[in-house]
Amino acid sequence: MCGIVGYVGPKDAYDILIESLKKLEYRGYDSSGVALKTNDGIFIAKKKGRISELESDIMDVPTSHLGIAHTRWATHGAPKDENAHPHTDCTGTIAVVHNGIIENYRELKASLAQKGHKFTSETDTEVVAHLLEEYYQGDILSALFKILPLLKGAFALGIISLKEERILAVRQDSPLVIGLGSGENFLASDIPALLSHTKEFVIMENGQVADIRADHVDMYDFDGDDIPLKITHVDWDEAQAEKGGYDHFMIKEIMEQDQAIKNTLLGRVIDNHVILEELTPLQEKLQKTERIYITACGTAYHAGMVGAYLLRHMAGLDVEIEVASEFRYAKHHWHDNSIGLVISQSGETADTLQALRLMQADGIPVISVVNVLGSSVYREADASLLTQAGPEIAVASTKAYSTQLAVLYLFAIYMARLKGLLDNEAEKHILQELWNVPEKVRVVLNQAHTIREIAQDTYKTNDIFFIGRQLDYMLALEGSLKLKEISYIHSEAFPAGELKHGPLALVTSDTPTIAILMQEDIMEKTISNVSEVKARQGDVFVLAFERNKKALHDIGRWAFFVPDTLPLLGPLVGIPVLQLFAYYNAVLRGTDVDKPRNLAKSVTVE
Ligand code: F6R
Repeated sequence: MCGIVGYVGPKDAYDILIESLKKLEYRGYDSSGVALKTNDGIFIAKKKGRISELESDIMDVPTSHLGIAHTRWATHGAPKDENAHPHTDCTGTIAVVHNGIIENYRELKASLAQKGHKFTSETDTEVVAHLLEEYYQGDILSALFKILPLLKGAFALGIISLKEERILAVRQDSPLVIGLGSGENFLASDIPALLSHTKEFVIMENGQVADIRADHVDMYDFDGDDIPLKITHVDWDEAQAEKGGYDHFMIKEIMEQDQAIKNTLLGRVIDNHVILEELTPLQEKLQKTERIYITACGTAYHAGMVGAYLLRHMAGLDVEIEVASEFRYAKHHWHDNSIGLVISQSGETADTLQALRLMQADGIPVISVVNVLGSSVYREADASLLTQAGPEIAVASTKAYSTQLAVLYLFAIYMARLKGLLDNEAEKHILQELWNVPEKVRVVLNQAHTIREIAQDTYKTNDIFFIGRQLDYMLALEGSLKLKEISYIHSEAFPAGELKHGPLALVTSDTPTIAILMQEDIMEKTISNVSEVKARQGDVFVLAFERNKKALHDIGRWAFFVPDTLPLLGPLVGIPVLQLFAYYNAVLRGTDVDKPRNLAKSVTVE
C-alpha cells in the first residue's frame, strides 16, 4: 500500500525522509520517490523497485530542509519510474504525493489537457499537481481550498510548493498523521514511519487539511475553518507499530476491511450504475457470453463460488467452477461464447496461472480479479478487475476475500445489465445496499470483543463444524478454512442438508456447529438442521441478520446478529464475524497467527 512521509525543520530532509520511508517497507510497494525543496528548485528523484535502488540512483543529494516522499503500490498505471510519486505540475514548482484514488481523474485530466497542461504519467495523482498550478496565485493553501471541491474519491495528499516553507496535508478516507517535533514537524501515512522522531501525533480525520511548518501546525476543515489540534501520545514499540498497534497483521487486515471494500467500489459506481472500464475491450464478447468458467484456489475459490452464484442468479449465466489445481487437469468441453474468470490475491498462484493459460490457449478470453497490479495473472489476463485491498501480509487471506466479493458483486451486476436482466430501479437498489456495506462491516468490526468472548468457549475444542445453504454454505466454507488454517482446530463446512447423509455421526456434545442463517428463503430448512445438531447435544452458534433476532436469539448457545441488508449481500457482512472467530480461537490457542505452520502466502509451485 502506498506510503507518504514529509519533513520540515532544520535537519537534512533527505536522510529523514528515506529513513522514514524504509519504516513503511513492510506495507509492500513497487516504486518510491522523493521531492526536496532546494535553492535551485524542487529536486525530484523517483524509481521503480526498492528504496535502495532509488538511493543508488541519486548521485548528489542536494541540501534541503523540506521535502515529501512516497512508496507506491500501483493502482492506476503500471509500476514504472514515470508513474512513481511525487508528481509535479508543468512548471515543476509544485510537487504532490498521494495515497488513494481520485475517482474523477479522467474528466479532470481531459479538461486540464484542453487548457494546455502536459501530463507525464498514467496516474490519477498527477491531476492534483496540475489543478493546483491552475489555481495558484502565490499561496498554495488558497489554491488547495479551491481544488478540494473538484476532487472525488479517497485521498491522502502531501503537497509542497517551491515558493513556500510549508507542507500541506489533506485527508479524505486515506490515513495521514502529523508528527510533532520541537522546531520541526513531520507527516506520514502511518505512525511507525515517525516513531524514531516523535511520540506526539495529530491523527488527521476525514475532511481535514493541515498546514505544516517547522514551528507550528494549523488545521482546517475543507471550508477553511480552523480546527483545534488534538494531540495523541503513542507509546508503541517497533513491532507493534508495524501492525498499527495491533498484535498481528491478520487482525489489522480484518479491521481494514470496511475501507478496503470502499476503495474497491470507489470509481466503479457512478450515478447508480456499475462502470467497469477495464472490461470495455471485451464488451462485445461479454454481450454474447452464455457460459463462464471460474477457477481459483483456497479463499479466492470460495469468493469464486459466491461469484458463480451471483452470475447464475442475477445474470442468468451458465457457470462452471472448479479449483484451479483440478481445473487445469480436467477434461473440458468448451462451449462457444464463453469466458474465463480467474481470481487471485497475489496474481502468482501457479495453478491459477496455468488454468488461465489453458483457457487462453483454447481461445477463451480470461478476466482476472486480482489484487497485485503487474503480477503474472494481471499481465496475462485479457482484462483485469483490481481489488483495492492493498498489500495483505498475514498468510490467511481476509481483506483480499472481501474485496474479491465486492468486485464479483459489481461484475454480476454489470453482466446482468448487459444481458438486459436488471432494470435501472433494481440496479439502483442493489448498488445502494452495496454502497452501505462498508458501514455495516464497521459495525460488525466494532463488536470484535463479543466474538472474542464466544471464542473463550470454543478454543479448547478439537472439531468445529459449519453449516449453511447456498450463499450461507459458501460463506461457511471460508469461515471453516480460516479457522483450521490459523487455529489448527479441525473444521469442516457442510451444506446443511447433507448433515444427515453422514457428518451427523460426528456431532457430539464436544463439537460446536456454526449455523449460518442469512438466506431467509431457506432459513427454515437450516433451522431444522440446527435441531438435528441440538438433538445430539451439539452446541450451536448462529449467525444471522439483526431483523431475525427475535426469532433466532435463543435457538443456539450463542448468536451474533449483523446489520440488515439484502440476503444476497450476506457473505460480505457475515465474513468479518467468521474471520474474527477464527482469529480469537487461534490467539487463545497461542498459534503463530500471521504465519501458520506449513503454509505460505504465495503458492508459486504446484
Ligand atoms: C487462505 C489463503 C489461501 C489463498 C490461496 C490463493 O487464507 O490465503 O487459500 O487464498 O492460496 O492465493 P491467491 O489468492 O494469491 O491466488
